Amino acid sequence: MADASNRSGAIDTVMHEERLFPPPAEFAAQARIASFEAYEKLWNEVAADPEAYWERVGREELHWFEPFTQTLRWNEPYAEWFVGGKTNASYNCLDKHLDEGHGDRTAILWEGEPGDTRKLSYADLHKQVCKFANALRSLGVEAGDRVSIYMPMTPELVVAMLGCARIGAVHSVIFAGFSAEAIAERNNDAQAVAIITADAGWRRGKALPLKQTVDEALKKSSTVKHCIVLDRVNEAVHWQPGRDHWWHDLMRDASEECPATPLDSEAPLFILYTSGSTGKPKGILHTTAGYNLWAKKTFQWVFDHRADDVYWCTADCGWITGHSYITYGPLSAGATCVMYEGAPNHPDEARFWEIIERYKVTLFYTAPTAIRAFIKWGDEHVEKHDLSSLRVLGTVGEGINPQAWMWYHTKIGGERCPIVDTWWQTETGGVMMSPLPGAIATKPGSCTKPLPGVIPKIIAEDGTECGPDQGGMLTIAHPWPGMLRGIWGDKERYQEVYWSKVKGMYLAGDNARCDRDGYYWIMGRIDDVLNVSGHRLSTIEIESALVSHPAVAEAAAVGRPHELKGEAVAVFVTVKGCEPSEELRKELKLHVRKEIGALAQPDDIRFTNTLPKTRSGKIMRRLLRDIAAGREAVGDTTTLEDYSVLASLRQDEE
Ligand code: WT7
Repeated sequence: MADASNRSGAIDTVMHEERLFPPPAEFAAQARIASFEAYEKLWNEVAADPEAYWERVGREELHWFEPFTQTLRWNEPYAEWFVGGKTNASYNCLDKHLDEGHGDRTAILWEGEPGDTRKLSYADLHKQVCKFANALRSLGVEAGDRVSIYMPMTPELVVAMLGCARIGAVHSVIFAGFSAEAIAERNNDAQAVAIITADAGWRRGKALPLKQTVDEALKKSSTVKHCIVLDRVNEAVHWQPGRDHWWHDLMRDASEECPATPLDSEAPLFILYTSGSTGKPKGILHTTAGYNLWAKKTFQWVFDHRADDVYWCTADCGWITGHSYITYGPLSAGATCVMYEGAPNHPDEARFWEIIERYKVTLFYTAPTAIRAFIKWGDEHVEKHDLSSLRVLGTVGEGINPQAWMWYHTKIGGERCPIVDTWWQTETGGVMMSPLPGAIATKPGSCTKPLPGVIPKIIAEDGTECGPDQGGMLTIAHPWPGMLRGIWGDKERYQEVYWSKVKGMYLAGDNARCDRDGYYWIMGRIDDVLNVSGHRLSTIEIESALVSHPAVAEAAAVGRPHELKGEAVAVFVTVKGCEPSEELRKELKLHVRKEIGALAQPDDIRFTNTLPKTRSGKIMRRLLRDIAAGREAVGDTTTLEDYSVLASLRQDEE
């Protein structure tokens, strides 16, 4: 419970989650890292001498055209990993498997939203990537050039990424839901020379006109000379001869011969834009060798991947999850990956479960926002399908409320599959904290422990390290291979955002606490902390208490100014299986009081049909804070998924 004597500025915890789920014995029996002792031994080994460990693993896991001569050169806050080496991420994802005689292994099991399917072996994918790399070259694209990608979730999206990587072009994938304005801003910031798109993409039975949006964006993108268009939907498109090229025309003429370019370990691999708390999006820069190794190794650790697994990550390649855990991680590891183009509720709410049953998916990775939607849609969609092939379940993107965790565990995992709650960021390149499914007992709502090579420290406002159960700023103490190398074109912002607040540490921008068992609990973004009568509370804990009530589907907690308390707790709630009412409002207040104490009892409860979310599914608490305070929502709303939510939330004020 809240400790009033704490003066360091640590955040109080009000969460009482005590359940512990050890790895199932059958699972642990065949896992690669099969006990807590084995995990701890490895973690300690890496922490004692990170460079010795990464030197060995770097040599073993990646293909080197030229060996590196120095494992890490650290000139805070700039890291160079595997200095002097030459490798290629496309080689590691493709050629390496062909060299090892696995060309026939299935790389991608793709399913389009309308139900069309394709299957590509590693040899097929290799051929496509070689041809596409040559197609890029035929347009004059060279190593170091930036290429934007604005595509639906088709195998060609992966081909486009790896085609760029093959010749050293730097891709910048832009989620195919962003506006023309957002595309132009990213094209200009990166000075992209080309953009790859499709006529359209399927979403809930409708064709989204991607090329049309790109046409709009290109009016304001003076650096872009070429636009490559995949014919996905057969839509009529506007055409600008000389600038626009059909994918299939370029591919028809392209040679299958395209040796991967040996690239410097630190050659930029991609830029991925992520929204900052305000203003201009940040172009997060990842480079070749370190990122590739981190994506591969973390994929193997977190999912305990084996050659016969069928892995499905439901993310879009427009986000870092798609980069690291659809493209670079699983393909480097030689995994067989399901890839799905469309919406989870098309043609109906059972689509995901049907896919899992049909492809016998064993490793499944999705987001809490999706899990909450599944719960709302009802168990009947799940129960119709055989999900017994599943063996590991993952989540990423936000904290998962213990209630949603338990549903995932019982309904999807049949109480047999470990859940890996993976904490990481666009900036970290890959997972930083997560249970290893055969080694670490899980607690619902906790991302458990750091992966080997990750040294987290929790720091209070006054700069001191927090004790057990005290919440503070999550930082990372030692560079790791997958860390971002900068913000594209903005050195100062990189230093300012990540390296200025806590000396010598990477500042993640999240608050967290570590409990007495050494388990980490993410408490939300630093800006999301509420301060009620001098107690600093985290949003996720209040939300988890609300979601544990059977009538609540989703909840978002924010602070609003309050004369006496400093801040009052305001919550926005969507309900399931009942109608909002005055009684329910009272009941929910009491429920929170009972679950976590009077301190966190909400002053305001507002019922709403939907919460404002980013396109990647995160609740936009910043907007809710403005609404709760009765202010106009200000600042950047370009990532908001559905603008009509804002209007409807305001109407609810009356
Ligand atoms: C932020 C990073 C990581 C890929 C997708 C999102 C939040 C992410 C968790 C988790 C609690 C989480 C954090 C983080 N977050 N995973 N398992 N538990 N919070 O990447 O868009 O860069 O967002 O997402 O707040 O800082 P991103």
